[in-house]
Amino acid sequence: MSRYLITSALPYINGVKHLGNLAGSMLPADVHARFRRLQGHEVLFICATDEHGTPAELAAAEANQDVRAYCDAQYEIQRDACAGFTLSFDHFGRSSNPPNHRLTQHFCEALEKNGLIEERVTKQVYSTDDKRFLPDRYVEGTCPHCAYERARGDQCDNCQRLLDPTDLIKPRSIISGSENIEVRDTAHLFLKQPQMQERVRAWVDKASEWPALARSIAYKWLDEGLIERSITRDLAWGIRVTKDGKPRRGFENKVFYVWFDAPIEYIGATVEWSEAGGGDWERWWRTDKGADDVIYIEFMGKDNVAFHTVSFPITIMGSGEPWKLVDQLKAFNWVTWYGGKFSTRDKRGIFMDQALAMLPSDYWRWYLMANAPESSDAAFTLEQFQQSVNSDLANVFGNFVNRITRFAAAKFESKVPDGGVWGPAEEKLAAEFFQRLAALTQFHEQMEFRKAAAELRALWVAGNEYLQVAAPWTAFKTDPAAAALGVRTGLNLVVLFAILAQPFIPDAAKTVLDAMGVPETSRMWPLASDKALLDALPHGFAFTPPDVLFKKIEDSEVAAWAERFGGGP
Ligand code: MF3
Ligand code: ZN
Repeated sequence: MSRYLITSALPYINGVKHLGNLAGSMLPADVHARFRRLQGHEVLFICATDEHGTPAELAAAEANQDVRAYCDAQYEIQRDACAGFTLSFDHFGRSSNPPNHRLTQHFCEALEKNGLIEERVTKQVYSTDDKRFLPDRYVEGTCPHCAYERARGDQCDNCQRLLDPTDLIKPRSIISGSENIEVRDTAHLFLKQPQMQERVRAWVDKASEWPALARSIAYKWLDEGLIERSITRDLAWGIRVTKDGKPRRGFENKVFYVWFDAPIEYIGATVEWSEAGGGDWERWWRTDKGADDVIYIEFMGKDNVAFHTVSFPITIMGSGEPWKLVDQLKAFNWVTWYGGKFSTRDKRGIFMDQALAMLPSDYWRWYLMANAPESSDAAFTLEQFQQSVNSDLANVFGNFVNRITRFAAAKFESKVPDGGVWGPAEEKLAAEFFQRLAALTQFHEQMEFRKAAAELRALWVAGNEYLQVAAPWTAFKTDPAAAALGVRTGLNLVVLFAILAQPFIPDAAKTVLDAMGVPETSRMWPLASDKALLDALPHGFAFTPPDVLFKKIEDSEVAAWAERFGGGP
């Protein structure tokens, strides 16, 4: 028994997430959390909404809502969508909740005590009409290099040159369009990351369990040299900046930068869980309180890797306090919509709430994980989705379950039949079953989701092949004992297939296991390759055949969805 702390990158609060976001962190984290629980480990699975920053403020303004009211509403929408996808968080918190405020302020003060914070005056663009400082990318103007008229303050999208907002000709605010823009002095806190450079490098050198992609991203940042990073912003919505527990002078109208406070919410959400009666949070996060034997795994999209392998560890290590650091991490490429971008504005792609209104979550879970964007980006297409659901779920798994349970119901009074002796067909099945089970277990342990899904499917196929050979429907007339053995083995496979499918398609698996009368305590991941597993159901045990598990997706449905969501190349 080990203890696993599992976190998924925190979804931004502004709007319900699309299927690509789901597939790149929350869903695989859920699959892994479920797998580790089934192995009998103690798991704490944490996520939250990431609520601060300019995008949240602007989305609220656009919705004509006060930012807190906006976040309250969006939080509920996202929480419900996550529940609809059966994401089994132990807690789904909010980065705007009090524990994160306390912790973020605490970390900053601890960093300052260790000489890692410096207050510095910087120059920032101020919009007199908007009455606010503008982040660089909220200023637009004419590029001084190529004369492109819609260059942003941080970069020109036309010639790709990096810019400073003061370089722009005729700068204007993208919030109001106002050209009344000036440059003002403003103080900010800078985190002296270069001082931590060697410590972080030594830690990354030892991080042998990280995938190559994560290590190379971390080394790239370290090799380029860490810079002193500003961790505060001139905004109203966010976490206030303090000193010695009191508002910091000169920072009354400033808050922490969203990327400083967001990862701290992994801890904050665990405190929320604890305050809601979950348990002792320090046992998971403080190495002086037992967290040194926790295995901490983070899931995220590739754009988040540097923040998790360098920035957040600097916050943690720089505090000088015994906090838990990440042990393993799993990063994903992008899921694209037919090779292009998901876009709310252009109505391209399917969002979590829309997906749930169309089909049960297992259909999406299966497709997204069987095609996880692991070694490269992966295109979502409705045609492949249809193909994968109809073939893997309806034909291979669903059909197996329905065929054998119906037959057993009709010919054996819905009871697990007795009789027959194992022959070559059963031996061959057992050999393949245990070999594939070992591979499936290993792929889950290595968080290789595509391979795990392929192996599970191969197990289902092996079950169908066995039934082909054992053919209890023909044996029934000539050799009732052989038919009984075939049916019994088939029914045991139904149960085993459902047990092994739980991490990917938990609802369908539950439907099967409930119908087969398998008690909760017997749904754990099989440990040993013991042939008794294939004859585990008590002979004479009564069950109910489950209803059809998956309905096939029709061509006409695909056509209608393609129209509605902008399918096609
Ligand atoms: N909201 C960020 C994104 O979607 C992820 C934040 S992860 C955390 O890219 F570590 F900061 F919490
Ligand atoms: Zn340009």
